[in-house]
Amino acid sequence: MDLVNVLNEDHERLRWHLLRLEGQLQQRYDEKGDPHGWTVRSESVLRDQLKEFLRALGAHEDVEEKILFKALVEAGTLDVHPLKNLEHGHRQLDVQVRRLAGMLDGAPSSPMAGLVAATMDLCETLRAHMQEEEYSLFPFIRSTLPEAMLQKLGSKAAARLSSRLKS
Ligand SMILES: [Fe+2]
Ligand SMILES: [Fe+2]
Repeated sequence: MDLVNVLNEDHERLRWHLLRLEGQLQQRYDEKGDPHGWTVRSESVLRDQLKEFLRALGAHEDVEEKILFKALVEAGTLDVHPLKNLEHGHRQLDVQVRRLAGMLDGAPSSPMAGLVAATMDLCETLRAHMQEEEYSLFPFIRSTLPEAMLQKLGSKAAARLSSRLKS
């Protein structure tokens, strides 16, 4: 599988996490439509899902920055628009990830409203970011890097992702 296919497949994995999280967020409404209907159980499930999601997102960004970004820099494309967007998008995600991770490290009794809002913000930002990569960055990579290199980078990316997700 070449690098673009590996990254696209990983986007699907991240979208699965987003759907699962959004499903869990529905728990904030109980049977009576009370928006504060969190239970100890549903809060704990959300926290566990968020930790798994942040781990998957961290692995994905790591591969994009350490493998894709590096290859594009080496190809001399440092100032090209899609690459600038990739960097900017990742810095934006980093801020939201740190905010959410800080909340997850906090006491379980911290207010759920903040955690829910931070989760929804990150889901929205990530969806837009992935879409932008798929429409702009990935076609750019295909037109910039030779096929043989994309294959080689794809194997490297797949190995790095699987080792990050296992460790
Ligand atoms: Fe990205
Ligand atoms: Fe991505």
